[in-house]
Amino acid sequence: MSESRPVPTSEPLATLPTLRAVKATPSGVRADLLVVPVRDGGVAEAVKPLGRALAAALAKRAKESDLRGRVDELLLHPREGGMVALLGIGAGNGADAWRRAGARARREAERIGARRVAVWAGTYAGDAGVLGAIAEGFALAGYRFDGYRSETRPPRAESLLLASDLLTKPAVARPALDAVASVVTAVFAARDLVNEPPSIGTPRHLAEHARRLCAGASTLSAESWDAKRIAKEGLAGLQGVARGSAEEPRFVTLRHAGKGATKRIALVGKGVTFDSGGLSLKPAKSMETMKYDMAGGAAVLSAVAAAAALELPVDVTAYVPATENLPGGRAQKPGDVIRYANGRTVEVLNTDAEGRLVLADALLVAGRSRPDAIVDLATLTGAARIALGSLYACLLANDQPLAEALLAAGRTSGELCWQLPLVREYRDDIKSPVADLKNVGGGEAGTIIGALFLAEFVGTTPWAHLDIAGPAFAERELPLASRGATGYGVRLLVEYLRGVAAG
Ligand code: BES
Ligand code: MN
Ligand code: ZN
Repeated sequence: MSESRPVPTSEPLATLPTLRAVKATPSGVRADLLVVPVRDGGVAEAVKPLGRALAAALAKRAKESDLRGRVDELLLHPREGGMVALLGIGAGNGADAWRRAGARARREAERIGARRVAVWAGTYAGDAGVLGAIAEGFALAGYRFDGYRSETRPPRAESLLLASDLLTKPAVARPALDAVASVVTAVFAARDLVNEPPSIGTPRHLAEHARRLCAGASTLSAESWDAKRIAKEGLAGLQGVARGSAEEPRFVTLRHAGKGATKRIALVGKGVTFDSGGLSLKPAKSMETMKYDMAGGAAVLSAVAAAAALELPVDVTAYVPATENLPGGRAQKPGDVIRYANGRTVEVLNTDAEGRLVLADALLVAGRSRPDAIVDLATLTGAARIALGSLYACLLANDQPLAEALLAAGRTSGELCWQLPLVREYRDDIKSPVADLKNVGGGEAGTIIGALFLAEFVGTTPWAHLDIAGPAFAERELPLASRGATGYGVRLLVEYLRGVAAG
């Protein structure tokens, strides 16, 4: 019997430009495109270092085209050996503004086909955070998922130079730029995993990916449980959901045992590689993007990989319950009752509320090693996307300091989340007449109900849940991501882990 499947991609899907900082004068910078950031109202000040003739020409053109320095405004002008661009960055001071400027520079570079790009860092050059943010935006905005196109337009930008005459010790920026490269590599890996067509991006594919990550990283180790082991460990939710599919489930773990670690963190990620809803079948339209139902799993694997690349002194493990949710002949049925390893029973009334079923197993397994905190990422409810849209994840937690740490990491990294209350009174909604719990409530407060269900499986360990159904997938182009998977959560988790490591 032969199987017909999409052709897997073989080429690396997106590559990083080289990132460097140098001490130079503007006229000494050799680049196809030199980008000069302009604060709102700061044209005269911004063009000054470019030398009298060029400065005058740029100031004149800026005036003619009413360029003031508002966010993303851009003016292109010839200069010796290439082009120069004035780029508005608005009034913002934070990393966000610089990431966005880096991203805008990248889009312009790709539009005009510039291979060597430079950004004039001027007086900001002393701040490694600013240089890192520009580089991060520049690198992230270059992502493509082109492996399945016959006509590709691969990114042209090969290098980014961050230049300033004040950069007396460019080597100081090296660690920040290397860190950016590690994190962006991890973000791209998460995007690739999610964007992969679902018949390629199977549970086995996720397991294989985790195994490959271990090559060349001495602190990383991966484990993958097959169907037999999953049964032996009593992972009832994962088994139940997997029953409707011919594709075997996997329970994937990836651990970074950081040297000098004093804290142990568990990351749990939903790994439903395709969610049809099961017998509680979704409408066709709702199914179109359901390959992204493993975005949480992809993000936690990538976060652990990044923690290893950054050599963070923290012990962090990703747990990913991976399965398809399909309505095959052996599929679990509405009304079925499953029994978890901790003895809890659940009446499965809606097979489309499958995420919480598989996460319950993963939370129980994660809890076995007594971590200091558990953070789960899951595309758990459509209601989360309705509540906060595509730019914020919903955060719910049983521990306020943990919630605050994640909110802060979100602000620093630019991957935002907003807290919803874990309203204990609503727990009555998931009482079942035949079992301890049922897997759906009455329809109100869907995101909170999902979190309350998960809370039943974490005990007293500090735990936070990020419902990433909104930000994990972009229906349109974003400043830092193309349409499709965004890799949301990788940068936030890395930032959170940095905080944990710093104590
Ligand atoms: N994977 C979906 C949630 C989802 C929906 C993510 C849209 C991203 C975009 C999840 O498994 C699901 O189907 N949830 C149901 C829960 C309901 C049956 C209680 C939902 O949101 O409708
Ligand atoms: Mn579902
Ligand atoms: Zn789902």
